[in-house]
Amino acid sequence: MEQTKRGSFTGSLGFILATAGSAIGLGNLWRFPYLAAKDGGGLFILIYVILILTFGYTLMTAEIAIGRKTGVGPLQAYAKIDKRFGFLGWIATIVPVIIFPYYCVIGGWIVEYGFTYISGGANTIYEGGAGNFFSAFISNPITSVICFLVFMGFATVIVLLGVEKGIEKASKIMMPILFLLIIGIAIYSLTLSHTDENGVTRTAWEGLKIYLIPNFEGLTLSKFFSILLDATGQMFYSLSVAMGIMITYGSYTKKEDDLSSSINRIELFDTGVALLAGMIVIPTVFVFQGTEGLASSGPSLMFVSLPTVFEQMGIWGHVVGALFFLLVFFAALTSAISLMEAVTASIIDRFQVKRPIATAVCFGFSIVLGVIVCFGYSLLYCEIPLPNGTVGQLLDVLDYATNSLLLPIVALLTCVMVGWVCKPSCVLDEIRIGHKSATLHREKLFVVMIKFVAPMLLLIILLQAFNLFSFM
Ligand code: PHE
Repeated sequence: MEQTKRGSFTGSLGFILATAGSAIGLGNLWRFPYLAAKDGGGLFILIYVILILTFGYTLMTAEIAIGRKTGVGPLQAYAKIDKRFGFLGWIATIVPVIIFPYYCVIGGWIVEYGFTYISGGANTIYEGGAGNFFSAFISNPITSVICFLVFMGFATVIVLLGVEKGIEKASKIMMPILFLLIIGIAIYSLTLSHTDENGVTRTAWEGLKIYLIPNFEGLTLSKFFSILLDATGQMFYSLSVAMGIMITYGSYTKKEDDLSSSINRIELFDTGVALLAGMIVIPTVFVFQGTEGLASSGPSLMFVSLPTVFEQMGIWGHVVGALFFLLVFFAALTSAISLMEAVTASIIDRFQVKRPIATAVCFGFSIVLGVIVCFGYSLLYCEIPLPNGTVGQLLDVLDYATNSLLLPIVALLTCVMVGWVCKPSCVLDEIRIGHKSATLHREKLFVVMIKFVAPMLLLIILLQAFNLFSFM
């Protein structure tokens, strides 16, 4: 059968921006600040950065190298490395198949907020309180589905245009704007101060201290361990590993590209944006709502606490709100296209069909699943108990199944395959191609991480997902 022509990035810059675009998403802007606030600021950040440079580096390197070495999407890549691991390709492909639709549902929430702010209608969010606006929106089966379709439509058009003209071009436009927006909003946030009705004045600098200075007060071994696990889970999600994306994007790189230096830059961008997001969210919420405001988590932080803060900022709140949701929109869209591309590439490579057909299949399936997820807050409302003891809606169930179960399983088996079956040299030799200097940094670290440390941590994460692991 004639091989369908595969796309590729034009060079390292396209690869770096597209991959950073995948990595930088809601995890950086929404989950990272919340975890940092919950887990004692500076200490969490320190552990997180160490993990990114060790564990994260290892997983990302392994996947990107597998992608370039095999030159195919995740569905076939594992089997090409070792036949016995072909089943892993299926699991790794199922992850983005499930995540993409519900990620687009959250993307739809961002579209609604962004549109409301940009069209000057922020007062409709504030009228009955941001919390009520949010619940009324997600429980409206019509508007939530329309917004979901708009967001998914953007992602679909970009993927349809292909690797070079779609993904690379979109990343080259959206990522620089994203960097400018986040730096600008961070600078503005640090100038804030506010006096509340009790006459207490709080400044952004005090909030910044809460964020950055490690708080060892009441730190026990078990608390340290829970911070470590939070940071590991976050790192994992933030780098978009274990869902076939890095394999897909790696397969579009050229042999002369220096993967090692690209990976360093991607990690730098991803961590930099997460740190800046914390510098925006934590001081801002602290200034207007004190330490109690920081305690809120999940959707409420982005869709309720922040809009409430923007309301308190007066006229500037409208501008900052609009820019902030534009930033979140770009971040989420570049992540969504990477998810859709992982699925599309797998279909193209496995079934040798043209891109429009593969994209249409992915689009069709995602509409069905996405609409069901939207209805999970209205027509199909249900409360489902999860194995970790919490109760959730359909979106939470899919999130749990992928992030807490499938991702650690894929990552663990990838470590076993690279570390013990095909041996670390199969990845390191690939990284050496195109590497500018004779020595590879962190080579020994890679071997120790992939064989021992990463599998152990992943196993603990898996056990924790079933509530089977607790430390003291
Ligand atoms: N890495 C993204 C983030 O930090 C999350 C993501 C999840 C991206 C799934 C792609 C796919 O938000």
